[in-house]
Amino acid sequence: MFDPDLLNTLRKARHIAVFTGAGVSAESGIPTFRDAQLGLWKQFDAARLASPDGYLADKALVWGWYEWRRMKVLQAAPNPAHLAIVELADQTEKLTLITQNVDDLHERAGSIGVIHLHGSLHKPRCFACARPYLCSSDIPEEPADGRRLEPPRCEHCNGRIRPGVVWFGEFVPETEWQQAEIAVSTCDVLISVGTTSLVWPAAQLPKDAAQNGATVIQINPDETALDRIAHYNLRGRAGDILPGLAEAIRTVS
Ligand code: OAD
Repeated sequence: MFDPDLLNTLRKARHIAVFTGAGVSAESGIPTFRDAQLGLWKQFDAARLASPDGYLADKALVWGWYEWRRMKVLQAAPNPAHLAIVELADQTEKLTLITQNVDDLHERAGSIGVIHLHGSLHKPRCFACARPYLCSSDIPEEPADGRRLEPPRCEHCNGRIRPGVVWFGEFVPETEWQQAEIAVSTCDVLISVGTTSLVWPAAQLPKDAAQNGATVIQINPDETALDRIAHYNLRGRAGDILPGLAEAIRTVS
C-alpha cells in the first residue's frame, strides 16, 4: 500500500526524472558494486580494473574483465523494474531516465533517450584517439571466471581499444551531465532506484532535484546516503516496488 499523497504527487507530476543505479539490474542477475558479499568491488580490485592507470598497467586483464561483464549483460534480460519505468513513461507527460549503469537493460526494456552518466559496456573506444570501436553484437564467449584478453587495435591509429565506461579519476561525459542537470532542475519528482548514492558527481543529482523543489522518492531495500534527503523512502526491491507504483498510478488515473 502506497501513501496516497505519494500517489497523488506522481499522478500530478508533469516531468518525472528516474535516476538508477546497479540495484535496478540486480534482479536481472547483474551484480551490484558494493554488496557486502557479491558486490564487484568486494571481489575485484577497482584500482586495477576501473582506472586509466590500471588499464595501462595490464590491458589484457582489464579488457578481459569487461568482455566477461559484457557477456553477462548480454545473457541477461530486463526485469520488471526496467519494464515498469517504461510503463511509467507511458503514463507521464515527460520522463527522463538517468542511469549510472553501463548495461543496456533499460534500452532493451524499451526506454528511449536514456542518459548514461558512466558510459556503456557496449561502446568501447580507442584509448589513444578516442574514436569509437564497433564491437560485434554477438555475445562474447568468455569462460565463467573470465580470462586475460588482449584488447583489439584501433583501425584508424592502431592504438589499443578500451572499455567505453567512466573510470575512477575520469570526468563524466559533458553532454550527458548537462542533460541530467537540466532534468533535475525541471522535474517535479525524482525517483532514485537501486543506488548507494555514494559516487560523485552522480550522487549530487537527487540532492539538486530536492533543492529545486522536486519531491524525491527513493526505492532501495537498504539504507543509503540519500535517506535523509528523500521525502519518501520505499524499502524493498525495485522489481516489486516499481511495478506496484506504476499499477497504483494507472488504476487511480
Ligand atoms: P552500488 O553497488 O553502490 O549500490 C547498489 C544499490 O542497489 C545498493 O544501495 C543496494 O542496496 C541496492 N539494491 C540491491 N538490490 C536491489 C534491488 N533488487 N532493488 C533495488 N535496489 C537494490 O551501485 P551504484 O550506486 O550504482 O561506477 O554505484 C555507483 C557507481 O559505482 C557505479 O556506476 C560504478 C561504481 O563504481 C562506474 O562504473 C563509473
